[in-house]
Amino acid sequence: MDVLLLGASGRIGHRVADELLSRGHRVTGVSRSGDIDDIEDPDFVAVAGDATDADDVTKLATGHDAIASALGPSDDEDPGILSEMMRAAIDGARRADVTRLVWTGGAGGLDAGDGTPLIETPEFPDEWEPVASAAIDALDILREADDLDWTYLAPAALIEPGERTGDYRTAEGELVTDEEGESYISMEDFALALVDELEDPQGVHTYLATGY
Ligand SMILES: NC(=O)c1ccc[n+]([C@@H]2O[C@H](COP(=O)([O-])OP(=O)(O)OC[C@H]3O[C@@H](n4cnc5c(N)ncnc54)[C@H](OP(=O)(O)O)[C@@H]3O)[C@@H](O)[C@H]2O)c1
Repeated sequence: MDVLLLGASGRIGHRVADELLSRGHRVTGVSRSGDIDDIEDPDFVAVAGDATDADDVTKLATGHDAIASALGPSDDEDPGILSEMMRAAIDGARRADVTRLVWTGGAGGLDAGDGTPLIETPEFPDEWEPVASAAIDALDILREADDLDWTYLAPAALIEPGERTGDYRTAEGELVTDEEGESYISMEDFALALVDELEDPQGVHTYLATGY
């Protein structure tokens, strides 16, 4: 598969690129600078592009089988930029005639029990609220794009660099927790879940949660 990976230089994006390449896919990895020097694979091409610019996304996506996103706002940016990125990805996908879009989203809107979204639970850290709320706004935009085969893939409540265990679970719209009630996934296993979803779509038009 030829995959346009938006945000390939990021913490999650880098691992998604590694996972795609290890399975023999070809990856065009987008970041603003286009400098991704630490992925040396003949099937990887690093390119510069602005993911808030639909013209850029259209140009870059043309000829690819799917678009994957691991985009995120920089620390100094308004998290609301996620909505601009989402609009540009949707518009770019349409204009480039790419129907499959798998988006790394946020866990904040997932049902954490009794219908309460994670973001509204008392334990949810205040400092995560702006980006979590912006990620929910971006999902609302994606939900309107019925003509695309989109999946909004959410990490667990906590996602960190870790181990590729090869195991994970998914759930539609609900926070995934382990036997101790913890919601966690390593970035490596999240990358695995994202590439599984690209190869064998199980969650088209779905807010799909991941965890153990
Ligand atoms: N539990 C949760 O719900 C949870 C936890 C963690 C992360 N997340 C979400 O997962 C996503 C990825 O997280 P992360 O930690 O991997 O983020 P990250 O390390 O900050 O990576 C963000 C990526 O987006 C790229 N980017 C930003 N603006 C861009 C633009 N205008 N054009 C092109 N590329 C752009 C960055 O590239 P350059 O800066 O090199 O251009 C980088 O590759 C985020 O949306 C984050 O909110 C969710």
